[in-house]
Amino acid sequence: MKIYQADSYLSMCRKAANIISAQVILYPRSVLGLATGSTPLGIYRQLIEWYRKGDLDFTEVTTFNLDEYAGLSPDHPQSYRAFMNENLFDQININRVQINFPDGTTEQIQAECSRYDDLIRSKGGIDMQLLGLGHNGHIGFNEPGIAFEKETHYVQLSESTRQANARFFSEGESVPDHAFTMGIKAIMQAKKILLAVSGSSKATILKRALTGPVLPEVPGSILQLHPDLTVVADTDALSELLKA
Ligand code: F6R
Repeated sequence: MKIYQADSYLSMCRKAANIISAQVILYPRSVLGLATGSTPLGIYRQLIEWYRKGDLDFTEVTTFNLDEYAGLSPDHPQSYRAFMNENLFDQININRVQINFPDGTTEQIQAECSRYDDLIRSKGGIDMQLLGLGHNGHIGFNEPGIAFEKETHYVQLSESTRQANARFFSEGESVPDHAFTMGIKAIMQAKKILLAVSGSSKATILKRALTGPVLPEVPGSILQLHPDLTVVADTDALSELLKA
């Protein structure tokens, strides 16, 4: 495991964007696993800036997002696809047909999960997976207690996750209670993992994830077993680890 300490959110984002850029420059046909949430926003902004300067080309890149809310169509403003369009895809030269999400609207739940896993495999697997870390230790929408051996699956979201994500929804609009997510097994099959973490509110869970016992109660703890994990975190997020 490699840990990069950054002194601020911005420099954390710059470091993470550097690592993703290196991947795309060295391997233009990379398959990237991407995340939503607040943490990657600055990373995506930095990638867009370098793309605009002519330093990055995404035409041959394929992406798979970690998760999508059940019941939200791709054009729903709170869908993860809409989030990614707004914050990254609409601003770079990625080929639309190479962007992949679970289909949140399907009723064929099992078939959709298998389709997503098969599609990832058919592209040769994920070369680099970007992850954020939930306050309860979740990665993707794999909530505490989830079995480590799952690939893409359908999950019920915990109340704390729904509350944390309510900030992206308008007042009175309810956060979906289910989602599709790549499972821990699917995430662990990525060749490289880049975990980005920011803020003092993540300090305790980051320490538990990286140095505590590997347990389903802290889904992110499984990352300790990944052969190529890079953690990029700001000093606030690392504050508990640095005390040790
Ligand atoms: C997002 C995702 C989640 C987030 C996590 C952290 O696609 O899968 O696991 O990475 O909830 O979210 P933020 O970055 O908003 O703190």
